[in-house]
Amino acid sequence: MSDKKVTLTLQGEAPVELDVLHGTLGQDVVDVRTLGAQGLFTYDPGFTSTASCESQITYIDGDEGILLHRGFPIDQLATHSNYLEVCYILLNGEAPTQAQFDDFCTTVTRHTMIHEQITRLFHGFRRDSHPMAVLCGVTGALAAFYHDSLDVNIERHREIAAFRLLSKMPTVAAMCYKYSIGQPFVYPRNDLSYAGNFLNMMFSTPCEEYVVNPVLERAMDRILILHADHEQNASTSTVRTAGSSGANPFACIAAGIASLWGPAHGGANEACLRMLEEISTVEHIPEFVRRAKDKNDSFRLMGFGHRVYKNYDPRATVMRETCHEVLNELGMKDDLLEVAMELEHIALNDPYFIERKLYPNVDFYSGIILKAMGIPSSMFTVIFAMARTVGWIAHWKEMHDDGIKIARPRQLYTGYEAREFSSQLKE
Ligand code: CMC
Repeated sequence: MSDKKVTLTLQGEAPVELDVLHGTLGQDVVDVRTLGAQGLFTYDPGFTSTASCESQITYIDGDEGILLHRGFPIDQLATHSNYLEVCYILLNGEAPTQAQFDDFCTTVTRHTMIHEQITRLFHGFRRDSHPMAVLCGVTGALAAFYHDSLDVNIERHREIAAFRLLSKMPTVAAMCYKYSIGQPFVYPRNDLSYAGNFLNMMFSTPCEEYVVNPVLERAMDRILILHADHEQNASTSTVRTAGSSGANPFACIAAGIASLWGPAHGGANEACLRMLEEISTVEHIPEFVRRAKDKNDSFRLMGFGHRVYKNYDPRATVMRETCHEVLNELGMKDDLLEVAMELEHIALNDPYFIERKLYPNVDFYSGIILKAMGIPSSMFTVIFAMARTVGWIAHWKEMHDDGIKIARPRQLYTGYEAREFSSQLKE
């Protein structure tokens, strides 16, 4: 929809009129699509001012700290829904009826097993590999096992791939962990919930029954909900870019996993826990805060700041509550939680953080919860990837449903002009 125009005037040239598009919520965008044909490109490294696509899935108001999935506020979903219902909402746009939900759960639950030969694939990795490296490799390799439905131009194939990814990701994620500690893989159990099944595959062994603690199961479910989608972040944009060439969905999700791994993105939860461990006591906090503010020091407070949120990340609020619930249930007093809360308090009252609107993000408390559950920090980003898979798929499907156009950005070239080549190698 467009009723406003922007006029671009280049000295000595005729003005160019550009449409201004309005969404249902959020900023208007200037439609620059016609500029390229006129020999002009826009320049925006890091996409700080660029809407890369149109989407109906997730809305974020970073100034107000609002996150909506298909219009539903994240705190309501985290409190009154469950992960699979949120998956249904993200993928289909509406909250399911009971019958639709039951069908959806049955399909997800019936596809949790993976091809047995994939277990051999794991054995090609070193045991001390980072689980994210293994997850990335194995997810990409799934295309070699499920090539019966890989025609991305067929809607039914896209749907089958979506269910396979959603169903099998916890199985693969838990296998990454079991492989790293030298324990046998645990097969999925379809009588358990999505989160309960994952915890069972992580912690049960053939020699001892593992009973899923309902408080931990609920906490895991919440962690999954809070990480399910976050509009056009780096990994989601990566999935869309990879998918724009018509690449198969497993390759696209593997690309998303690779992007997520970086410490500025999903890798922050692991880095945040490492930082809290390094700080170790509240007495050391001022030194770390001083370093975070020092322009000559590359250290940053992990779990703080966000490209879009310039207010408290609404996911961090729920995560903080869940953190207390889990520690209470386990009867644990975690020194790191004390460090985290004091660090948050000090940073939120420091002019450096206030002026730059740096608040705790989703990763600030998640590591403490996962650690209390007995999950090693190397698995934190794997769990983030497992949770985000539904968001990636929802965006990948939406892109295909809307009609794909290959993502092909241009550049501001600042290299050499054309010059003569003469080899300097010895004859
Ligand atoms: N600690 C100290 N200073 C910071 C921090 C931080 N965590 N984050 C930003 N700043 C400063 C930065 O130095 C800059 O200062 P100045 O204006 O004086 O140069 C200013 O704040 C703006 O920072 P920016 O790097 O331009 O902001 P950005 O939008 O490009 O980066 C970010 C966003 C999330 C990469 C960054 O805040 C960061 O590195 N945070 C720590 C890593 C982290 O927790 N990431 C998880 C993000 S949430 C989960 C997810 O989406 O995956």
